[in-house]
Amino acid sequence: MLTKDMSIGVLDSGVGGLTVLKELRRKLPSENFIFLGDTARAPYGVRSEEEIRKFVEEMLCFFDTQNVKLVVSACNTITTLGMDTLQKTHKFGLIGMSKGENMVLSASKKKKVGLFATQFTVNSHMHQKAYTAIDSRIQVYGIPCTKFVPLVEAAKFGTPEMAAAIMEYTDEAKKDGVDVVLLGCTHFPFLHREIQKSMGQDVQVIDPAAETATNVEHYLIEEGLYKMNGTGGTTINFTGDMEKAEKLVAYSMPGEKFPFNKVSLK
Ligand code: DGL
Repeated sequence: MLTKDMSIGVLDSGVGGLTVLKELRRKLPSENFIFLGDTARAPYGVRSEEEIRKFVEEMLCFFDTQNVKLVVSACNTITTLGMDTLQKTHKFGLIGMSKGENMVLSASKKKKVGLFATQFTVNSHMHQKAYTAIDSRIQVYGIPCTKFVPLVEAAKFGTPEMAAAIMEYTDEAKKDGVDVVLLGCTHFPFLHREIQKSMGQDVQVIDPAAETATNVEHYLIEEGLYKMNGTGGTTINFTGDMEKAEKLVAYSMPGEKFPFNKVSLK
């Protein structure tokens, strides 16, 4: 039986999910979080569906051993696979990334939305389907930003390589004439400020992490699993290079101290 006191799992292919973890911790301070980033095998967004499904199942099996009431897919690429198709035999709930519908639709006056995401997410048309179901006039311009994930995983912030990649993708979005850019990959909020600066003040760059955290809160309340009291904690697990990943945790949540574990999913 699932109970309020159980933890919440948060998974991603790598360090990107930390940007969602940060919002979840802010929104749900009494909850315990167990983060798992499969840094040894990131990026996922350039892999086949079969391979991604296999890796995700291994991550979900890890959470079977962790006493969790819910797992949040802090990864858009994984979310495109459909949470119901991943749930199968697992007892905990499973929630994916928000497509940012509420923020995107109210922010876009021109009805032209740029989607920065992995190749896999762009190909899925997940965001387009969600927006046009609400407003059929919305046009989504999907831009696969394949250079970003390896650069973020390698913490290449402020480097000429990163600047060139930001310019390449924002130039494309400017040509499309969008007035909103949705960060449709959880690695990209690490570059939120730089992308916003490059797009200019007439374009709103939106991170759906806060909307995802709100969805999680509503789910917990509806299911009677919301933990209201006490101080929560967070444990962080990675499958790859710990030193590099711990630096990115410090960059993402400065001043915070967490227990870290290296885990093997094989
Ligand atoms: N952070 C993930 C996402 O939101 C996946 C990035 C990747 O591994 O390609 O799509």
